[in-house]
Amino acid sequence: MNFANELLHWYQQNKRDLPWRHTTDAYIIWLSEIILQQTRVEQGMPYFNRFLETYPDINAFANASEDDILKLWQGLGYYSRGRNMLKTAQLIQQQFGGRFPTAYQDLIKLKGIGEYTAAAISSFSVNEARAVVDGNVYRVLARYFGISEPINSTKGKKLFQQLADEVLNKEQPGLHNQAMMEFGAMLCKPKNPACGICPVRTGCEAFKHNAINQLPVKLKT
Ligand code: ADE
Repeated sequence: MNFANELLHWYQQNKRDLPWRHTTDAYIIWLSEIILQQTRVEQGMPYFNRFLETYPDINAFANASEDDILKLWQGLGYYSRGRNMLKTAQLIQQQFGGRFPTAYQDLIKLKGIGEYTAAAISSFSVNEARAVVDGNVYRVLARYFGISEPINSTKGKKLFQQLADEVLNKEQPGLHNQAMMEFGAMLCKPKNPACGICPVRTGCEAFKHNAINQLPVKLKT
């Protein structure tokens, strides 16, 4: 089995049961991804549940007041996320007739949605073949392929996006993306990664060369 297939196989046997993994509704995926941007899963989960309960769809969200949104956001930090969400919801109500867009090229134009989030929503909702690149993906790719190019240099960002696109499973991009992130979060962790039980360690350049703790490289800014 190749690298991507091994990870997919690992994912199907080891994934956490998280509420946003049971849906292809772009609105619900958007809600979860924005909340999880600077927030850990355990901390974000109750907020995700409260938001979804209060605003079950994009139109309910768009009709909320900024005060209501910020009150529900209380404690999550980075309040611009909440404000951007309201603006985006209102724009979707007006320009997309209240149907949350699923195409990467539509999503990337929206406030608060960057490359990662657009790739996540389009791949998880309609399996558009877009590779997500977040901190987990940088770490997994840097270690497995032994890449010491800094992940935050212009050259590095381009290189890692290209590599992520190359290894993407084009048949199941949504599952593949979830698998890459879950593998980074649960097994190929920043500190004390579980190399002892890693299904791809024999092909892992960092493992072979004892360089797990040297990768990924990040430039101090
Ligand atoms: N962090 C960001 N997006 C996530 C997702 N879809 N599942 C788990 N953790 C995440």
